[in-house]
Amino acid sequence: MEVQADTRYAEMRHADKGGRLGYRMAKSSLNQLTVSLATEQRLAGQKLAFIALHPGRVRTRLSGFNGAIDVEESANGMVKVIEDLKLEQSGDFVRYDGEKMAW
Ligand SMILES: NC(=O)c1ccc[n+]([C@@H]2O[C@H](COP(=O)([O-])OP(=O)(O)OC[C@H]3O[C@@H](n4cnc5c(N)ncnc54)[C@H](OP(=O)(O)O)[C@@H]3O)[C@@H](O)[C@H]2O)c1
Repeated sequence: MEVQADTRYAEMRHADKGGRLGYRMAKSSLNQLTVSLATEQRLAGQKLAFIALHPGRVRTRLSGFNGAIDVEESANGMVKVIEDLKLEQSGDFVRYDGEKMAW
């Protein structure tokens, strides 16, 4: 299994909020990689899953400690998502609480 640290800033529907263009572009590229690797694995009949995982708006240095949740809640949620992950979810964009996100 491979997990990419993603963000809602990569969601196309979030682009109308503006800002952070470089960050959006970098994470969108990561999304393309995640889906492409998931597809490659599927076509090869292999059982390695790739997901993009959004940690939530976490109170870290990156968010200026202004996020909605603390590190512990985010980390615990992500561990659960990873533990519960099914191969059919490979190529998905998932939030720390398990909710599926839009590209
Ligand atoms: N916080 C949020 O609300 C949020 C939301 C969505 C997505 N994310 C994603 O979650 C991930 C972690 O973000 P964060 O909030 O934990 O950010 P952070 O508080 O700024 O921490 C970033 C971590 O990455 C390390 N780092 C940065 N550049 C590096 C490099 N070139 N090589 C090795 N390590 C490097 C830093 O190390 P040093 O301490 O040594 O500098 C630090 O430990 C990122 O991918 C971010 O896009 C975060």
